[in-house]
Amino acid sequence: MDYQSLFAEALYQQLRDQLDQEKVYQLIEKPKFTEMGDFAFPCFELAKIFRKAPNQIASDLAEKLELPPLFEKVEAVGGYVNVFLDQTEVSGSVVAEVIQAKDHYGTMNHGNGEVITIDFSSPNIAKPFSMGHLRSTVIGHSLARIAEKNGFEVVRINHLGDWGTQFGKLIAAYKLWGNEEKIREKPIKELLKLYVQFHDEAERDPSLIDEGRLWFKRLEDGDQEAHALWEWFRDESLKEFNSIYELLGVTFDSTQGEAFYNDKMDRVVQLLEEKKLLEESDGALVVQTAEGMPPCLIKKKDGTTLYATRDLAAAIYRHEIYGSERSLYVVGNEQTLHFKQLFLVLEKMGYEWSQGLKHVPFGMMLKDGKKMSTRKGKVVLLEEVLKEAVSLAQQNIADKNPSLPDQERVAHQVGTGAVIFHDLKNHRLNDVEFSLDAMLKFEGETGPYVQYTHARASSILRKASYRVNAAQLMFSDDTAWAVVKCLMGFPEAVTRAFEGNDPSQIAKYVLELAKSFNQYYGNVRILDAVEGRQEKLSLVHAVQIVLKEGMYLLGLEAPEEM
Ligand code: ARG
Repeated sequence: MDYQSLFAEALYQQLRDQLDQEKVYQLIEKPKFTEMGDFAFPCFELAKIFRKAPNQIASDLAEKLELPPLFEKVEAVGGYVNVFLDQTEVSGSVVAEVIQAKDHYGTMNHGNGEVITIDFSSPNIAKPFSMGHLRSTVIGHSLARIAEKNGFEVVRINHLGDWGTQFGKLIAAYKLWGNEEKIREKPIKELLKLYVQFHDEAERDPSLIDEGRLWFKRLEDGDQEAHALWEWFRDESLKEFNSIYELLGVTFDSTQGEAFYNDKMDRVVQLLEEKKLLEESDGALVVQTAEGMPPCLIKKKDGTTLYATRDLAAAIYRHEIYGSERSLYVVGNEQTLHFKQLFLVLEKMGYEWSQGLKHVPFGMMLKDGKKMSTRKGKVVLLEEVLKEAVSLAQQNIADKNPSLPDQERVAHQVGTGAVIFHDLKNHRLNDVEFSLDAMLKFEGETGPYVQYTHARASSILRKASYRVNAAQLMFSDDTAWAVVKCLMGFPEAVTRAFEGNDPSQIAKYVLELAKSFNQYYGNVRILDAVEGRQEKLSLVHAVQIVLKEGMYLLGLEAPEEM
């Protein structure tokens, strides 16, 4: 039940001539202090329309308002209409609703089954999986689950960076200095070394750059040797990426990378030509974008294609194959210009669906306040970071709960959970400071804290031999109210997270729920309660359900014990 809507409905009955219902709903606030009620409607905007003081409008409204029975009291204070819910009734009905709906609680139907494609992770082969790609992976994975929760059908796409001039360079470097044996052993480390060496040597000997260009040209022209090497590099890289995805529990519906579009680009160029959008510039082909924005490069002087060309082909292909009217691209904010150009070119091509394409940018991962860079081989290897997190979690468990069964699995869930939550708890546009110690705390605003709270709720239910019975829950104590109100807010957090492409809405929500539950737990005897034991346990159960679902939306596992 959405109590805010009920309140909005009642207000609208009185304000039909002044405001539309949507607007009424949006104006409603949730007061921070309980003495100001559960919802408040500010009358300041109405003052101009009615030509009356807000105070007066509020008391008129309070008097006329016809509220449904679940509202207990209405007051006019300082230009606001404050309403109070009947805590006993509402608590019973909210907790019962959660328990009945289980993991469907908070499910919305905003999408109505509409398809949305989400392009995320998308690392570059023959290079380490960077922190930026980790951010994209974690944010995209969460956005995919959030979109599903909002009623969309999601297609998860890993647009691998497996094509481009850098592979020409890599092949050139391999031909000069490569060692097959070594690459088989540690593919990404060795390939990165070759890449770095190439750039170092090219500073002394610029002819290497031409050599690299030549190899890329051969690759694009289907040269057998070039192609075989490329394929080998790709396979080896994918093996390493897959082990990271497995660690994180991330899956994709498609891993068609840039190379997949090689045979689809002629058509794009032809379409651009037909629409008279192509221009020659210094021997290259470009499309003009907008005043003050650089043109979009489609083909280089030597006839090779570019990142943008492949993205054009990919966007058109996806629309054709999946019928998607909406697409998200979860990519760092340094690519903002690229996506602006891409969307503009598609718009100029006359594709109306280009309006549904959205770049979802995010900030950088910092170490000691500085950007973590792949250049020059100075990288923190992601796999090592995750393994380190898991082993720290293992230590934590050994200290705190040495008799825990299945420690390895739980350590895995907690370690990766810590890394994921640390990334998602702040708005994605903020830079993230990387610190394993901070991530793995069991207290404060961390993933393990939320997981721990869930485990605590599970343990209470276990110890109580709790049985589900959601009929006729009568809450007589008002200590539960803060928790119930938090539970009521979940559907809204789900909606907001989708609308803003913002997993931090869910992260903040689960933190708040965990905190309010822990407060309740500190103040109330549950296991040996004399009165209202079933109510208390049902509340614990509802919290357990919603914490678990919230964590699921973020990509965190919820161990029952830790
Ligand atoms: N591989 C690219 C990079 O690492 C990201 C690709 C993002 N997706 C896309 N459709 N352009 O920078």
